[in-house]
Amino acid sequence: MSSIGENGADFLVVANRLPVDLERMPDGTERWKHSPGGLVSALEPFLRTHSGAWIGWPGVADAEVDAFEEGGLQLHPVRLSADEVQDYYEGFSNGTLWPLYHDVVAPPAFHRHWWNAYTRVNQRFADATAKVAAQGATVWVQDYQLQLVPAMLREQRPDLKIGFFLHIPFPPVELFMQLPWRTEIIRGLLGADLVGFHRPGGAQNFLWLARRLVGLEPSRGAVGVRTRPGVVQVGDRTVRVGAFPISIDSAGLDALARRKDVQARAKQLREDLGNPKKILLGVDRLDYTKGIDVRLKALHELLEDGRIDPEDVAMVQLATPSRERVEHYKTMRGDIEQIVGRINGEFARVGRPVVHYLHQSVNREELAAFMSAADVMVVTPVRDGMNLVCKEYVATRYDLGGALVLSEFAGAASELTSAYLVNPHDLDGVKNALESALTIDPAEGRRRMRALRRQVLTHDVDRWARSFLEALGTQTAI
Ligand code: ADP
Ligand code: G6P
Repeated sequence: MSSIGENGADFLVVANRLPVDLERMPDGTERWKHSPGGLVSALEPFLRTHSGAWIGWPGVADAEVDAFEEGGLQLHPVRLSADEVQDYYEGFSNGTLWPLYHDVVAPPAFHRHWWNAYTRVNQRFADATAKVAAQGATVWVQDYQLQLVPAMLREQRPDLKIGFFLHIPFPPVELFMQLPWRTEIIRGLLGADLVGFHRPGGAQNFLWLARRLVGLEPSRGAVGVRTRPGVVQVGDRTVRVGAFPISIDSAGLDALARRKDVQARAKQLREDLGNPKKILLGVDRLDYTKGIDVRLKALHELLEDGRIDPEDVAMVQLATPSRERVEHYKTMRGDIEQIVGRINGEFARVGRPVVHYLHQSVNREELAAFMSAADVMVVTPVRDGMNLVCKEYVATRYDLGGALVLSEFAGAASELTSAYLVNPHDLDGVKNALESALTIDPAEGRRRMRALRRQVLTHDVDRWARSFLEALGTQTAI
């Protein structure tokens, strides 16, 4: 995409996390591992094929790491102190913004010292970016942790082209208005030339807030998907506001799933699970927005009702550890582990649990093998900006096998309309959908999967990135 010369980088991604996380081992040694979450899963394969710089936190407090190169990417670590991890990352980002933007499914906390840390850390990211960016460079700022960076960066470097993309839902205005620092956030985002959301609804909410909170006159027409962005004039600058649904490296995952070793591993996994007639699979960060409890409760009731025979079914739930010191996450982990224990206590027999719960993350090969082995993929978030797991499942099913149960409250639901769509608050509806997916007629299953694959294979992450960067006006760089 671009070169990184002596005068700085001309394409930069700025995100809270680097694509790799520093891990400190008990014996004091350190190693780098892949960072968790959808932002890195989506952006990393795109950036690997286009050189550029990535500015982000290495994932542990007080890490003194110099800039380094990895796989063609120039990584610039931003240091956070232990207090900043607590107040900016765990506090304002994940104790205030995350629940507020996800429909307040958990109550957000509003603390002034968290906000102060958020402001300070955003300024540090802006300063680090200003130092590394070449004259006229394109800077792509990512996600809710860095919403003040666009304006802070513009202040220092008006020569830059600045894009911002929000990877989580942008909330309804009634909820956003709870935020004591709502005007500051909107002003921060308005520092960008293009502000992107997954869905037109998010863009529309933002435009309304720009009028209400900042007194601007945004365009009134409906925002389209990848087309017809809204427009706001901020002084002599024009800010565009659009919808760009993110996706995955669909072809890469399809190819991975076709590999003989991955298929052999999928077969082995089925055997290890005792060759049940049907395998259900959940794959998530262990997060209260993901509705892991919803699917477990539905399974529990189906077993109690005798609608599922525990001899026929095994469920695997992979759950990546996430934000473990944040209070809501601790409570939720306890709740989920209790339901798992209860289901197995009542319905397992020796050597044959019904739910296999792994509080671990697995590598891409293993993930593709689990997805290839699963008859039903269960994705039931109570709110999710997009959700990549459901798209990953579809990309691995080149055999047109398997069925997808998907929450209506995931951004992906408006694209993956051939899934079994469910309202996660309606437990009977979720039970019915699970039963239908478990007993699907193979021809109907193939018909649905073909339609899902057509969508996912033609709308991949490359298309997402290109549509955003083209709307930002960086055609020449890509
Ligand atoms: P979020 O970004 O909120 O975590 P997404 O569904 O958009 O949710 O993205 C999650 C990403 O993390 C996907 O690429 C998924 O494959 C990956 N992932 C989630 N859980 C695991 C796990 N246990 N092991 C490996 N990868 C995981
Ligand atoms: C979601 C967010 C990302 C975040 C990821 C993992 O995908 O949108 O910004 O990086 O979750 O969460 P973490 O808090 O571990 O970075």
